[in-house]
Formats: sequence, structure tokens, C-alpha cells
Amino acid sequence: MLRFLSGLVVVLVFAVVTAPAGRTAQSEELPDGPGKKILLASCTSCHELTEVTKLRGYYTKDDWRDVIVTMVKYGATLNDKESDVLVDYLAANLGKKE
Ligand code: HEC
Repeated sequence: MLRFLSGLVVVLVFAVVTAPAGRTAQSEELPDGPGKKILLASCTSCHELTEVTKLRGYYTKDDWRDVIVTMVKYGATLNDKESDVLVDYLAANLGKKE
């Protein structure tokens, strides 16, 4: 029960955080998951999410890893674990189909 409730709270907070920004239409194309949270938290401060989603289908997993390394150089704040989760998420949902 507690687990269910805390899960619900996370979902609600998430909905509140993402809804007013007018980005719901774009972010709805991306399935929920830990990777999406990292993406929204770490990758939308300098540019829109569309900067990332416009590349749907273009990048392989290695390419996405490079992108993240570059963004960290630019100043994105991600630790190694978050980068790994995000690389998997981007490759799975926006990656080039091999
Ligand atoms: C500190 C600011 C900053 C943060 C945070 C940031 N970016 Fe960027 N990003 C940029 C800038 C500046 C550009 C445009 C310059 C360029 O095209 O190289 C860019 C461009 C991009 C592009 C387009 C590259 C291309 O090949 O057209 C992608 C994809 C991208 N960012 C992904 C991400 C992801 C994923 C994250 C989160 C890990 C992220 N960004 C976080 C600054 C940032």
C-alpha cells in the first residue's frame, strides 16, 4: 500500500511538473521511466526537449553516449549512473534501429 501511494505521488508530482510547460505533447511520445525523469531534469535547462527528440532514429547507442558526454562538457549535471540509464533509455526510445 505504501509503495503504491509513493508511486502515485511520484506520478502526480511528475504530471504537475511537466504539464504547465506546454511540453506534454512532446514528452508524451516518450514512455515513462527513470530515463525520462533524468532527461526532463537534466536535459531541458539549456534547450527544449525537441532538441533531443528531433534526432529520433538518427543516433545509435554509442552516438547517444557521445551526445551525453558532450552535454556534460557543456555543463549538464549527470552522474555516471544517470548517464548509463539515460543512454539506455535514449537508445531504446529514440535510437536508430539496427
Ligand atoms: C549546459 C547546457 C546544456 C545542457 C544541460 C544540455 N545541453 Fe544539449 N545542447 C546544448 C547546446 C548549447 C547545444 C547546441 C550546440 C550544438 O549543437 O552542439 C545542444 C544540443 C543538443 C543536441 C543536438 C545535437 C545535434 O547533433 O544536433 C542534443 C541531441 C542534445 N543537446 C542533447 C542533450 C541531452 C540528452 C542532454 C541531457 C543529458 C542535454 N542535451 C543537456 C547545451 C546543453
